[in-house]
Amino acid sequence: MSGSNNAPFLIGEHMTGGYGKSGPDILHDCTIAVDPGEIAVIVGPNGAGKSTAMKAVFGMLDLRKGMVRLDGEDITRLSPQERVAKGMGFVPQTSNIFTSMTVEENLEMGAFIRRDDFSDTMAQVYDLFPILKDKRRQPAGELSGGQRQQVAVGRALMTQPKVLMLDEPTAGVSPIVMDELFDRIIEVARTGLPVLMVEQNARQALEIADKAYVLVQGANAHTGTGKDLLADENVRKSFLGG
Ligand SMILES: Nc1ncnc2c1ncn2[C@@H]1O[C@H](COP(=O)(O)OP(=O)(O)O)[C@@H](O)[C@H]1O
Ligand SMILES: [Mg+2]
Repeated sequence: MSGSNNAPFLIGEHMTGGYGKSGPDILHDCTIAVDPGEIAVIVGPNGAGKSTAMKAVFGMLDLRKGMVRLDGEDITRLSPQERVAKGMGFVPQTSNIFTSMTVEENLEMGAFIRRDDFSDTMAQVYDLFPILKDKRRQPAGELSGGQRQQVAVGRALMTQPKVLMLDEPTAGVSPIVMDELFDRIIEVARTGLPVLMVEQNARQALEIADKAYVLVQGANAHTGTGKDLLADENVRKSFLGG
């Protein structure tokens, strides 16, 4: 089943909900979406609910209201594992690699749902991140922060996802490494794979965003192209330091 022409490829729509059965709502009518060939970026203050919105789209939260659709299919009730099988690749903000396993074992783990030969995909990941090939026999925990993030993204790519979701892929890395990671993410998006990404480096993220969301207190505060939001005086004053 395929979506209609103007429905987004992946959308978490009017999402309202929080953690557990009785926890307070963290998300309030929150909508985020991404289309093929696009990088959609979510920015906003600490605690705004960016990670919660990503987890909701991935099925780690029971939504009280709203729905999640992938390629026109309602997947709101599916488990995270079922969503992976449907083509979602998710790199969470924390604990996104196995530090005691080698780089290559991490990539193999990423391919856990595949029954076919995944050596071509592994070669593609090594082409994208050549340093990982050099370090493939090393425990991932011995790698630098930027290299670990490459392992995490590479792991997610091993399932050959139809959409890639990244929660703060440049957390804790230097500006140079951040630029490199962004270049690789742009390269991935250019292959047609939709990328939905949370970023704390708001200005740099908006510069590469085809579409951007500012979340505040679990709700959509601003939505537009990256360019629009960079030019928006309110966004500049409140979130970009002028
Ligand atoms: N596992 C959890 N259980 C309960 N509350 C949580 C959990 N994770 C995050 N929260 C709360 O949800 C709110 C949004 O957090 P989060 O989505 O992590 O924000 P952001 O990613 O924008 O920094 C915060 O108030 C946080 O305390
Ligand atoms: Mg977060």
